[in-house]
Amino acid sequence: MLSSILDQGSYLILSDFERQQQVLTLARSLIFEGVEKLNGPASRQELEQQGLSLLHNVLAAEQIGPLRDLVMPTLRPALLEMVCSIGRLLGIDDEFFVDDYTILRINFPYLVAKEASRSAENPGIGRVDESTRKQSVASKVVDPNYNPKAYHNNEPPAAWAHGAHRDTWTGHSRLGVNLWWAVDNVPEEASMVFYPGTLNADFEPDRRSLYLAEGYPLPKPVKMSLRKGEMLVFNPEVLHATHLNTTSVTRLAISARINPVRPRFSTSCFYAREFWHSSTNIEAGHFDRVLRFERNENLEPAIDRSVVPPKFPQLIELEADSHDNEWKRVCESVKIAEGGKLRVRFGNENVLLIRTSAKLHASQANCPHLGVALADGFHDEKQLFCPAHGLAFNLQSGLSSCTALRLRMYEVEERQGDIWMRATNRASVHVAA
Ligand code: FES
Ligand SMILES: [Fe+2]
Repeated sequence: MLSSILDQGSYLILSDFERQQQVLTLARSLIFEGVEKLNGPASRQELEQQGLSLLHNVLAAEQIGPLRDLVMPTLRPALLEMVCSIGRLLGIDDEFFVDDYTILRINFPYLVAKEASRSAENPGIGRVDESTRKQSVASKVVDPNYNPKAYHNNEPPAAWAHGAHRDTWTGHSRLGVNLWWAVDNVPEEASMVFYPGTLNADFEPDRRSLYLAEGYPLPKPVKMSLRKGEMLVFNPEVLHATHLNTTSVTRLAISARINPVRPRFSTSCFYAREFWHSSTNIEAGHFDRVLRFERNENLEPAIDRSVVPPKFPQLIELEADSHDNEWKRVCESVKIAEGGKLRVRFGNENVLLIRTSAKLHASQANCPHLGVALADGFHDEKQLFCPAHGLAFNLQSGLSSCTALRLRMYEVEERQGDIWMRATNRASVHVAA
């Protein structure tokens, strides 16, 4: 099992494992208790009636951090034990390591989270042992290129979602195995997004976001729903992302990480997750013994990948006014093969032309969420997937599963071997996504 995850980049979903029900019950009851401590018994009662997936109805986004502070220290020993038993289930016989950094991922629906204040925590922020916290604060490293606020377009941190990445790009260890555990039912559009087959592909991160740089086309994303209690186990070097939570429910998951061997870090990231528990200590009940593997002493030379330059679809620049109704000739039809894309600078607007087997479509070229270039996203006959957070846009209408995020569409026609387009009828499309 372990080698297929590590060597082939596959993933598996565990539906039944040791300590699963006991720790799930503990995690859920700690969340209910935390809500009661923060907002009183009436809020707890309301949450018990409505279900945890409606947590955002009783908790403000600004209280996600305080709730984590209440839940994680008590949950930590039981969680470490459960993670350790999963390591054994995966077939690791010898001593292995469990990351001290664990995350209670609370992703409110995007439309709720985007109204939060700046002080509300990012869903991807974890918690560590108290001793680790003090040491990490003392040795914090800052990279001047890294600017997550700019990537997230200054949206409140509670609304942030991870773009496509490998975990070693963000300071995690080599040869890790990620555990991602559904504390409540997780619908597909609030889940993880995977790009199978990308384990050994040549991709580069953008140094400003540590997510995939522009110019690397992605394969079809795999999205998966999980039932309450199911555990996704995957190789974090396969490109993966967080789906923008376009549902009306809060996503609740806990993530942890195993390293079958002593953790080592990539030279490509400026910091490293240095604090770990050994399976020997966890199995002996020593949950507060944390080992430190200092980055500088545990670096591994970068994997020798050829540096592949980014590849962008052809760009055609047209003089145009997007407010008039005039048709403009773009280029010869043969410039876009079936399944291909072409970028057009239409006056001062960026447009993406996409050819399916049936027809040509023209849409705005950047995602209405954070402006990421859609040219790298996979498309099929009906949909274009954003390469950042997996959102699917209908190629006919531009609609997505989020009412606030819709692509502007352009009219496009082929006449006697040429492609023509114009920017009209923007409000007249009524096709369902
Ligand atoms: S940038 Fe987030 S879904 Fe496109
Ligand atoms: Fe990740």
